[in-house]
Amino acid sequence: MAITTQAASKPGTVDLAYDGKSLSMPIIEGSEGEIGIDVAQLRNKTGMITFDPGFGNTGACRSTITFIDGERGILRYRGYSIEELAARSSFLEVAWLLINGELPTGTELETFSREVIHHTMVHQDFGRFFDGLPKDAHPMPVCAAAVGALATFYQQPETEQSIHDSVTRLIAKMPTIAAYSYKHSLGQPFMYPRNVLDYCSNFLHMMFANPCEEYAVDPVLAKAVDLLLILHADHEQNCSTSTVRVVGSSRANLFASIAAGISALWGPLHGGANQQVIEMLDRIESEGGDVRAFVDRAKDKKDNSRLMGFGHRVYKNFDPRATILKKACTDVLNAKGLASRQLEIAMALEEIALSDDYFISHKLYPNVDFYSGIIYKALGIPVNMFTVMFTLGRLPGWIAQWIEMRHDPETRIVRPRQIYTGPTVRGYVPMEART
Ligand code: ACO
Repeated sequence: MAITTQAASKPGTVDLAYDGKSLSMPIIEGSEGEIGIDVAQLRNKTGMITFDPGFGNTGACRSTITFIDGERGILRYRGYSIEELAARSSFLEVAWLLINGELPTGTELETFSREVIHHTMVHQDFGRFFDGLPKDAHPMPVCAAAVGALATFYQQPETEQSIHDSVTRLIAKMPTIAAYSYKHSLGQPFMYPRNVLDYCSNFLHMMFANPCEEYAVDPVLAKAVDLLLILHADHEQNCSTSTVRVVGSSRANLFASIAAGISALWGPLHGGANQQVIEMLDRIESEGGDVRAFVDRAKDKKDNSRLMGFGHRVYKNFDPRATILKKACTDVLNAKGLASRQLEIAMALEEIALSDDYFISHKLYPNVDFYSGIIYKALGIPVNMFTVMFTLGRLPGWIAQWIEMRHDPETRIVRPRQIYTGPTVRGYVPMEART
C-alpha cells in the first residue's frame, strides 16, 4: 500500500494519500501555535490506525492548564510563568489556580485555605489502616493504597459538590497520609495535624514532631517545601497525569484515579529519579570525588552510567525548574549554615557537563531532579520520601487534569488500538499431542 501525506489544497487540512484514495484531515492549532493533525476519522475512513509507542507524537486531549515549550525552557500554569509563581505565590494559591483556572481573590484563597485546614485529619479508623502494612513498606505504595482507601470512606454519588469535597479532602489529607506513611516506617506514633500551622509547616510538624518533645517548624524549611511543591504542581500530559486521565476516563472516582497516578509516579523513570541523583553524588564521593572521570563514564556507551538529573524528553535547552531550584538550594544551605558536599559535587558536575561537547550536542541539561534531592536532604527528608514529596506537589495538577477531562465533551473512555503481531488462527492442540 503506497501512503503519502502532504499539505492539502484546502487550507487547515493535511491529505493522506493511500492506494489511489485520499483522506483530508483537519489541522488543529493551540493557543501557543502548536499544531496537530486530527486523525479521529482515520480508522473509520481508511481502516488504518496510527502507531506511536510511548505516545511521543500523540496529543491525547486539548488542555488549558499547563504550557511547556521544551526548546525555549518555558513552563506556565494557566498562562503564568513558573518563575513568577515561584517568586510570588504559595502552593495553595497555585493549587487553586490550577484547579479553577484563575488566581484566587483574597477571600477565595482564605476560604480555600480554611476548608483545607478543616479537613486535614483522617478518620480514626483510617489510622488503623496503616497497621496492616509492613513497617519496611516503601511510602509510595503506602500512599497509593491509602488514597485508594479514602474512596471507601467517602462514597457519595458524584455531583459537583461531592467532587469539590473530594478535591478539598485530597489536598488536605495528602500531607497527613504522607507523614503517616513515614511515621509508620519509623514505628513512631502518628502526629495529629495542627490547624494553626500553614500547609507546609503542618506537613513538617507531622513528619518531624513527636509527642515527647516540642518541635518548632523552621520557616526557612517550610518556605523551601512550599517552593518545591509549586515547581512540581503540574507538567501537562506526563506518565502519571496521563494515568490519572486514563483511569478517570472510565468514570472511576477521583480517589481511585489519583491512587493510580501515584503508582505511575513511583517508577524510577518518572518520579524516582531524584533519589538516583543523590545516590550518584554519594557514589562519586565514595569513589574519591573524581567528577571528570564520572562525566567521561556517562559519555561512554560501553558504561551503563548516566548523568542522573541530566536530560529531559521535553526540555532541550534548560529546565526552568532546575534553574530556580539551583538558587534555592544555595539559599537554603546558606540560611541554615549547612555545607553540602553533594551540592559541591553537583555544581562541579554541572560545570564540566555544560562545557562538554557530548552534553552540548545531545542537548542534555540539568532537570528538576538534579537539585531537588539536595534540598530534600538539607530539609531532613529521608531519601525514600523524595518521591512522596513529588506526589504532594503534583496532586493539584492531577486533580485539575481529572476535572478538565471530566468536563471535556471530547472525552471518551481511553482505549488504544494495537498492531497484532501474534500467531494467526490455528487449531486447538490436545494435551497428548503437545510436545
Ligand atoms: N547522561 C548521559 N547520556 C545521556 C543522558 C544522561 N543523563 N540522557 C540522555 N543521554 C544520551 C543517550 O545516551 C542518547 O545518546 P545517543 O543518541 O548518542 O545514543 C541521547 O542522549 C538521547 O537519550 P534518550 O534516552 O533517547 O532520551 P529520552 O528523551 O528518551 O530520555 C531521559 C530522557 C530519560 C530523561 C534521559 O535523559 C535520562 O535517562 N536522564 C537521566 C535520568 C533523569 O534524570 N530522569 C529524570 C527526568 S525529569 C523527571 O522525570 C521529573
